[in-house]
Amino acid sequence: MPRATFHFPRGFLWGTATSSHQVEGYNRNNQWWAWEGQPGKILNGDRSGAACDWWGGRWREDFDRAAESAQNAHRFSIEWSRVQPLPDRWDETALDRYREMARGLNDRNMTALITLHHFSDPLWLAEQGGWENERAAELFPVYARKTVEALKEYCNLWVTLNEPSLYAILSYLMGDFPPGKKDLKSTARVMANLVRAHAAAYQAIKEVQPVARVGIAQHYRGFRPATRSPFDRLAARLFHNYLNDAFPRALQTGRLRFPSGNANIPQAKGTQDYLGLNYYTEELVAFKPGRTADLFTRRFYDPAYEVSQGGFIANVPQGLFRALEWCHGYNLPIVITENGVNDSQDGLRPRYLVEHLHQVWRALNNNYPIKGYFHWTLVDNFEWERGWSQRFGLWELDVETLARRKRPSADLYAEICRANSISTEIVERYTPELLAKLFPD
Ligand code: FCB
Repeated sequence: MPRATFHFPRGFLWGTATSSHQVEGYNRNNQWWAWEGQPGKILNGDRSGAACDWWGGRWREDFDRAAESAQNAHRFSIEWSRVQPLPDRWDETALDRYREMARGLNDRNMTALITLHHFSDPLWLAEQGGWENERAAELFPVYARKTVEALKEYCNLWVTLNEPSLYAILSYLMGDFPPGKKDLKSTARVMANLVRAHAAAYQAIKEVQPVARVGIAQHYRGFRPATRSPFDRLAARLFHNYLNDAFPRALQTGRLRFPSGNANIPQAKGTQDYLGLNYYTEELVAFKPGRTADLFTRRFYDPAYEVSQGGFIANVPQGLFRALEWCHGYNLPIVITENGVNDSQDGLRPRYLVEHLHQVWRALNNNYPIKGYFHWTLVDNFEWERGWSQRFGLWELDVETLARRKRPSADLYAEICRANSISTEIVERYTPELLAKLFPD
């Protein structure tokens, strides 16, 4: 077997990603907290509760863990409902707390990548109709400006919106996220308002901080036709168009193409400095006219791939390569803003991690301008409608005691970050089952 080392570029960002509602605890003033309180909304009736207690200060120990593990960057999000608890009230102490966190990263020689909206909305906004109300697109840039003014000393890399198309679809079409609507027209309206909000926030951020690099974190799910049938192909194409492509395309062209909601939003054109990619998996799509609830499809994982606990995520590393190929078509720098797998036993995660990073390396060899990789996630956290059932952390969290325990993948990732490369030796030690695949004769 040949021995080799896959090198990453100098200055490559290695980190993990988190989001406010999932880690902070007691975010009582957003729409998710209210949703969690309603019976039947969250698996097993779980509540976010204290979450990982970051608001109580445990971000410090978790940032220490990340820094000691050779991560040189971290992506976290600001909770809008803390910064602006009421429409006419700004909470400067909350902003101070976030300043402390961002500085905390810098003090540990880590680059901060900050998200301004990661699924959670202030309750007052939800009560005004949330993102269906056009006002949201005017209010968001005001909050963005305020936040960037407060944090600009410590950060110049921003994500305005996390997974805007997934947020719109899960909240307004599938009904899994609050407000639990199932209405295509509302979804289209929300998509358009999110595009407007991003465009206005982009301008606001640039005014406050001309050197800022601003983008979105786009959820990309691979959709491949289950057969060669033209119907399956069309179905896969439509899923790709609307879930993956519509939003960033609108930021490229100023035109949103979405069912029952095409919109010209010229001010959005050219409002991305980089493309953030959240990639987890790829699925097969078969056209099934009778299945209205599933948007006339059956979607499933190719049995050739290993799946995570509960069948949640299939390990399709080549899908990441394909996603990066798609990103490359945008002609922008690329940041992998999320990638990871739920695995409380850490049996699949080491393989998943190494194989996905190997695909990142392949894409870099094609000269795709990939600037960094953020693994989801640092420590187990509150996984939205799936509650505490899904464990994505490099560190395990005991939800009762808040104790953290390192999973083997944390050491594996640390070795890769420290070496800025993946070597035969690392693979031999952590994932020997991949040796023949990654280093073929
Ligand atoms: C992404 C979300 C993130 C987390 C992971 C598992 O879609 O952005 O908050 O839930 O999935």
